[in-house]
Amino acid sequence: MPDNCLVSLSDIHVHFPVQKNWLGQVKSTAHVLNGIDLDVDAGETLGIVGESGCGKSTLAQVLMGLLQPVRGSVSWQTAGAKPTIQIVFQDPQSSLDPRLPVWKVITEPIHIQGGHSRGQLRQIAADLAVQVGLREEYLDRYPHEFSGGQRQRIAIARALAPNPDIIVLDEPTSALDISVQAQILNLLNDLQKARNLSYILISHNVSVIKHMSKRIAVMYLGQIVELGHTSDILQKPAHPYTELLLDAVPDMTGSLAMKGPVDLPELPGNRHLPSGCFFYDRCHYRDEKGCHLAQPLRRLSAEQEIRWVRCYKNIYENSIRAVSTEVGV
Ligand SMILES: Nc1ncnc2c1ncn2[C@@H]1O[C@H](COP(=O)(O)OP(=O)(O)OP(=O)(O)O)[C@@H](O)[C@H]1O
Ligand code: SF4
Ligand SMILES: [Mg+2]
Repeated sequence: MPDNCLVSLSDIHVHFPVQKNWLGQVKSTAHVLNGIDLDVDAGETLGIVGESGCGKSTLAQVLMGLLQPVRGSVSWQTAGAKPTIQIVFQDPQSSLDPRLPVWKVITEPIHIQGGHSRGQLRQIAADLAVQVGLREEYLDRYPHEFSGGQRQRIAIARALAPNPDIIVLDEPTSALDISVQAQILNLLNDLQKARNLSYILISHNVSVIKHMSKRIAVMYLGQIVELGHTSDILQKPAHPYTELLLDAVPDMTGSLAMKGPVDLPELPGNRHLPSGCFFYDRCHYRDEKGCHLAQPLRRLSAEQEIRWVRCYKNIYENSIRAVSTEVGV
């Protein structure tokens, strides 16, 4: 494991039994994660993109230790000293306990661990409130008394309380007004610099990913199909699915909406996985030569960049996007 790496996921598989017969026997299985390999480095923001249902939140749950993979391993930087990992959800309304005043909401994760007096917890809440831009006098109010943006600040303070190394941000701004989104993203960037935090940023919004992440992982049907530096991938996608995602039209909020039903078959289910390339049914570039084979994540050979792609064809070299840029279209 490289020195800078905090946690490394290797060949992670997660399955859920989805149907049982009257004897309680499993009749069908959802294959939600299907061989995820991923390193998270100290102080980085790793963006995770992909359609609804591709397994982004499930991956977060594996990292948080809330789900045990059926296969594969999660290795932390130092054996026995697992970095602390916290999560911030999309909807702070439902993730904050409405019965608790804000100072208790913020300090709940460390209160559970024990060892702090009430006065100490209150002081910790006051310090964190300042760091996330909330006034100290708000600490005795209840979550419903705040705006969406303020509630997300409370959720961020709460995630910071156990002094984590990694925070998973699962669509952290998608429930917020556009003007508030930018404030929250800037706050997250400032906190990252001040605390050398790593973020795993799950988002449908390409402009959010572009603003925040140096690297992105593109997920499809529980696999990473492309991994590399954000600027490289946004400029020249190398996997047909990434190309499709980037061609999708952003809606009014800047979120990605798929291009629509135009020659795009329905997302295949995860009950019966394809034996060859998972993207075969929807791929404009498919052929009968190599696409029927399972596709490993291969390193793309290109100068000065690190890129991994799960496709045996190199559409990067023939990228329509790149060609049209060159001819100035
Ligand atoms: N406990 C479970 N039992 C069965 N299927 C599950 C379970 N949890 C998740 N799934 C399935 O796993 C797939 C991935 O779910 P997940 O929530 O990780 O997707 P996601 O990429 O986060 O989607 P979204 O963008 O909508 O949040 C979905 O098809 C979901 O229905
Ligand atoms: S392997 Fe074939 S079907 Fe799969 S993404 Fe590449 S070109 Fe498309
Ligand atoms: Mg999700």
